[in-house]
Amino acid sequence: MNKDRKLIIAGNWKMNKTVAEALDLVRGLKIELANVKEVDIVVCPPYTALADVSRAVLDSNLRLGTQNMSEHNVGAFTGEIASVMLKEFSVRYVILGHSERRQYQKESDALIAKKAAAVHAASLKPIVCVGETLTEREGGQTEKVLATQVSGSLAGLSKDQMAETIVAYEPVWAIGTGKTATTAQAQETHAFIRRQIAKLFDETVARRVRIQYGGSVKPSNARELMSQLDVDGALVGGAALEARSFSDIIKSSI
Ligand code: PGA
Repeated sequence: MNKDRKLIIAGNWKMNKTVAEALDLVRGLKIELANVKEVDIVVCPPYTALADVSRAVLDSNLRLGTQNMSEHNVGAFTGEIASVMLKEFSVRYVILGHSERRQYQKESDALIAKKAAAVHAASLKPIVCVGETLTEREGGQTEKVLATQVSGSLAGLSKDQMAETIVAYEPVWAIGTGKTATTAQAQETHAFIRRQIAKLFDETVARRVRIQYGGSVKPSNARELMSQLDVDGALVGGAALEARSFSDIIKSSI
């Protein structure tokens, strides 16, 4: 594939996998993906499996991410996890503002922007999720919603930080539903997001930013999605829970 941005494919394990199950999955991935160099591969286990998965991926091409992080550095924030704690486990990426957190934890664009700043301050890379609901798409609101999410969740980042930020476009109606955006819908929406980034930052930054697609990505649709000009990888939920399907997604995209 002839794109100057390296593909990045991340597995969002959500609230799945005990430590034993997580290690089992990583064992399988290490075997299946040992020779893959063309793609940045990231696994995002739950916090409870972080220490063990961190040790297990040390000698591999798998990089570690988490599914959230506090915007604060330390202190009285019950239940929260700070960047310094993640760095102890060699975490490199942090998913922020996933639609499930926007919905269930009521995370706002402003909060996500604070978290993104904290992630960069710790020299980690955020994967910032945006996406419209079915009602919003059907109501012709997709671009308006995405423009608001993009400008709000990325507010305050420097150009250098933005260039190192990964954006994940995840139409909410495609997450865990088996419905995928068509390749044309994905390309069109990714191009729109890139244009917004160009407006907010500049063209050079926009050309460098990697935009992942997420929402029912599976081995059968991954290649076509990632062959689109502005689709630079995938954020995978359900299909990332098994070594075979996640590896097949990665191999099919090369
Ligand atoms: P899915 O989830 O692949 O199961 O649709 C994607 C996500 O929520 O990141």
